[in-house]
Amino acid sequence: MKNAAWGLLVIVLIAAAAGLYISHPRPLYPSSLTAHTPDPENGKKLFIAGGCLSCHKPDKGNAAADKTIPSGGHGLHTPVGTFYPPNLTPDEKTGLGGWSQADFVNAMKRGLSPAGEHYLPAFPYTSYAAMTTGDIRDVFAYLKSLPAVASETRAPGIPLVWVVRRGTGLWKAVAFSDRTYQPDAAKGQSWNRGAYLVKGPGHCSECHTPRNLLMMPDMDRYLAGGPHPEGGKDKVPSLRDLIGRKRYKDGKDLVSAFQWGEAFGYDKLSSGGMGAVQENLSKLPEGELAAIAEYLTSLK
Ligand code: HEC
Ligand code: HEC
Repeated sequence: MKNAAWGLLVIVLIAAAAGLYISHPRPLYPSSLTAHTPDPENGKKLFIAGGCLSCHKPDKGNAAADKTIPSGGHGLHTPVGTFYPPNLTPDEKTGLGGWSQADFVNAMKRGLSPAGEHYLPAFPYTSYAAMTTGDIRDVFAYLKSLPAVASETRAPGIPLVWVVRRGTGLWKAVAFSDRTYQPDAAKGQSWNRGAYLVKGPGHCSECHTPRNLLMMPDMDRYLAGGPHPEGGKDKVPSLRDLIGRKRYKDGKDLVSAFQWGEAFGYDKLSSGGMGAVQENLSKLPEGELAAIAEYLTSLK
């Protein structure tokens, strides 16, 4: 009996050590960043496509805050608890003022904080990781061009958050890839552009692809719709075969839906966060929307 107890203890210790090893953060090193001339205009476009402001906006109750600046504070309710997406302005103390480019790339591509903690995937770095490092650095250049606003970040309302972060490290080891989007050579440039925007910055899959028991996207049902973020009996609709199912007349019609939303008679574009997504899409150049539409309407 005694031997069995010791054996069990050894197994538990090995499992714990393996868990700590696997969940150990693996940041990318600053020296791996090659020369890049930042383009804040491109960064601004990707900031809009990425919907960053929708989560990092100031709290509604904060009347003095400029609502167009991602100074953080707005509460994001999720099944695990409430997050307060932090301040992304260049304030030294409470924002990204002290961050290096490598810090920012690590956050977006590896889901790691400068202190080496795992971010929870309520921050959709799971999709942003597919962005090119150049595009990510352009987003950082855009954020750096914003006025610095002091706005302290509230800790997330999540019990045992340290353990949850380490657990996220384990989850990332099986469920997460930091692989940049690889263009499909058999397809044209604008199809690939659309695929990139949908999979990377647009993070459409986060809501439109159902998840399996491990909370991993079920790629057999890629963009085929899933449970509604607000719960209840509504579903996130499928983005496959939008034309065959007569949801839209053609790609052009889908572009108008992105541009005008429900104000123009389109439906199913407001609830569960889609209203904010559509509003962001409406601010993108028509060429980018046409690329998204070309890609989506090719999915049967
Ligand atoms: C769906 C909501 C959501 C969206 C969209 C979103 N974020 Fe976040 N972001 C979060 C949350 C939640 C956290 C905190 C995660 C944590 O504490 O584990 C976060 C954290 C961050 C951090 C770490 C900041 C810090 O001080 O540690 C950065 C950087 C960041 N987001 C950048 C962005 C950028 C850039 C975009 C747009 C391309 C974006 N986020 C879009 C929810 C979001
Ligand atoms: C935060 C979750 C979320 C994200 C991210 C998201 N969607 Fe949606 N989407 C929804 C929900 C929920 C609906 C249904 C809204 C309704 O019924 O009012 C929807 C509806 C749609 C529809 C209407 C489908 C139909 O049958 O008419 C389209 C098209 C669409 N989304 C495209 C996109 C694209 C493109 C992206 C990425 C740029 C995206 N969505 C990102 C949640 C999301």
